[in-house]
Order: sequence, then C-alpha cells, then structure tokens
Amino acid sequence: MADLKLTGVAKSYGDVQVLSDIDLDIRSGEFIVFVGPSGCGKSTLLRMIAGLEQISGGVLEIAGQRMNDIPPSQRGIAMVFQSYALYPHMTVRDNMAFALKIAGKSRSEIREATDRAGRMLQLTPYLDRLPKALSGGQRQRVAIGRAIVRDPQVYLFDEPLSNLDAALRVATRIEIAQLKASMPDRTMIYVTHDQTEAMTLADRIVVLAGGGIAQVGAPLELYERPINEFVAQFIGSPAMNLLPGKVAQTGAETVVALDGGGVAHVGIPTRHEDQGMAVNVGIRPEDMRETEGEAIFEGVVDLTEALGEVTLLYFGTRDRPVPVIAKLPGIHPALDGRRVRLTADPQALHLFHQGQSLLYREGVELPPYQPRAAIPA
Ligand SMILES: Nc1ncnc2c1ncn2[C@@H]1O[C@H](COP(=O)(O)OP(=O)(O)O)[C@@H](O)[C@H]1O
Ligand SMILES: [Mg+2]
Repeated sequence: MADLKLTGVAKSYGDVQVLSDIDLDIRSGEFIVFVGPSGCGKSTLLRMIAGLEQISGGVLEIAGQRMNDIPPSQRGIAMVFQSYALYPHMTVRDNMAFALKIAGKSRSEIREATDRAGRMLQLTPYLDRLPKALSGGQRQRVAIGRAIVRDPQVYLFDEPLSNLDAALRVATRIEIAQLKASMPDRTMIYVTHDQTEAMTLADRIVVLAGGGIAQVGAPLELYERPINEFVAQFIGSPAMNLLPGKVAQTGAETVVALDGGGVAHVGIPTRHEDQGMAVNVGIRPEDMRETEGEAIFEGVVDLTEALGEVTLLYFGTRDRPVPVIAKLPGIHPALDGRRVRLTADPQALHLFHQGQSLLYREGVELPPYQPRAAIPA
C-alpha cells in the first residue's frame, strides 16, 4: 500500500513563497499527473515528496507514516528525471544495477532485478551495451529501469520525455502507460507541462497554478468542467475561446448577449439576481460549427490552417488581443477571407464570472461527473 497524503504543504525559498496550502490525497495505485506552466512549482512539489527538498510547512504522509524528516532512501520511492544522466562507461545492466550494488544486494538478486527490468522495458537485447550505442528513447528506458530494479511503492517522474523528439515522445509515453498497467498497485506521480501527456496518462490530473492547486480531477472532467478560466484555457488545444457578454435571461438555461453582437444559449443555470451580470462564455474551438441561424460568433476568417484532419479558422489576428479560433473537421479551403457564422451546442458551452466557472457555486451540489457521450454523426 502506498497512498500519499499532503496536508497544507508549503515551500518557500527565503522570503519567496513558491507553494502553499497543498492538500492532496493520492490513492495507492493511482497515476497522478502534476501539470502547469513552467515555474509553477511542479518539480518543487515532486522533490518534496521525494525528500530531495525540505518541506517548509505542512505534512507529507506515505502509507500513513509522516515522511517530512525521513531521508529519500527510506521513503519507498524512486525518481526518474528529465536528464537521464547514465554512466557512459557502464553497460545498461550495470547502470540499472548501480543502486542495488551500493545497497549491498547479492549478485543473484541484482541479476534477477535487472533481468526483470530489462524484460519490462524491452531492453533485454541491450543489457550488455553501453549507453552511447542506444537511441534516446532506449536511454530514457534505462533510466526508468534504474527505478524499476528497486521495486519502489511510488514512482516519481519529472518531465521524463522532454528531451526526446516528438515521435519518440509519443512512443515512450505509450510505454509508460503500459508499464503502469503492468504494475497496477504501484503509485505513479508524473510531472509535465505537456497537456497531451497529462490527458493520456493520468487517472487524475492536478493542475498547479499561482502557487497552489487550481483543480484536481479526471482528464475529461477537467476538459468538460474546468473550475476557472485558467484551467479552461490550459487544458485543450487550441485553448478555449472566452467571449465577453452580459446575462440576458436567467433560468435552467442561460442566455448571454455577447459584446460582439452574438447570442449564446448556455446549458448552465443562473439565478434571477444574475440578470445583467458580466460573464465570459467559454467555447472550445472544436465545439464550434457553422450555422445559418442565430450565431454565437460571426466574423471574417483572416487565416486558415489546414491540418488535413481539421481546419483551424482564425478571427481577429490583427485587432484582438487573442484571436478567436474555430476548429472544423475536415478540409475547408474556401473559407479563407469569408464571413462565417458559428454556433455550438448549449451543453458544450462554459460560463465564467470573474474568472470562476458558474458551474461551481457556493451552496450548489454539482452532480457527479459523467463524460459527455460522443455525439453520433
Ligand atoms: N533553489 C531555489 N531557490 C530559489 N528559488 C527556487 C529554487 N528552486 C526553484 N525555485 C523557484 O521556485 C519556482 C518553482 O520552480 P519549479 O518547481 O522548478 O517549477 P516547475 O517545475 O513547475 O517549472 C520557480 O519560480 C523557481 O524559480
Ligand atoms: Mg520542473
């Protein structure tokens, strides 16, 4: 068992507070991803869990035991870093065995552990090679192997794929997902700034921002029910559009008169006193579609990006601080320079007031999250 509990965890360097009030329960066997912009404290939080950084405040427990002052080697964890730093003069097997040798394990134990790690990571044919005779992806697998041989309860990964090129990143990401599936009772905490990695690997994502936790949830829950505009725009690509307007009609469905002239019907309830309230309607590029009827947004396409599977339409690249972007399935060469009218399903829209989602309001019980079913074509 290796559940982790963080209570009020904080970190400061001198006078500079980097993280505060981190409360988090991680269940044994979970794959947790910490995601957030560069410098938000992801590595710092992971290193505090590992014991490589002093915890300035709060309590860290692993398997019910307070760990704040326990040295890294006794926490039952192993960490994999972005820079895999293998010993160049040692074979793959010796690189993986190094920590076990230091720990005084027997030759047969070491042999067994490195054989097992080699099999799990498909490195068996390379065990006697030097790192220089391996590809970048294989080298990162050796670094993961160094963690596996120690058979820790908790694996910590700090951006392990960032040094790999795009194709290798995808391949190694899939291997990490399969590795996790092969050890369902081991807990993994994985740091990345890459939202695709977060969405594809995590059981639950922890979004860090502004020195704290913005939101914790299953990947699709964060996608469909972001708690604030930051999470809404951090998860999903291109980022969610935010269109300012005023509440024109309240009720089970909210009608918003947009400053740009459009009208949005949003499937999120508002109260009588919300009439006239300033809001942002959130609309994901992939939820927009062309309409002949009432439009949420209307504009002239001033740039298109044809990606084959989808076409991105850009509006206001010159006159808006951030362009509005629509993502239409398929190929649309004829839309460049044309005026188009766009709408979206009320259930797909988001509604924010002062940056916070109106789904999550004081005193309102939000039903448990259920993924929105794919809409049949
Ligand atoms: N040893 C240190 N001394 C002072 N500030 C630090 C130190 N390490 C990290 N920081 C600061 O803490 C913040 C979080 O850093 P980090 O955890 O590395 O961010 P991330 O991994 O999310 O990119 C950054 O603003 C960084 O400058
Ligand atoms: Mg980092």
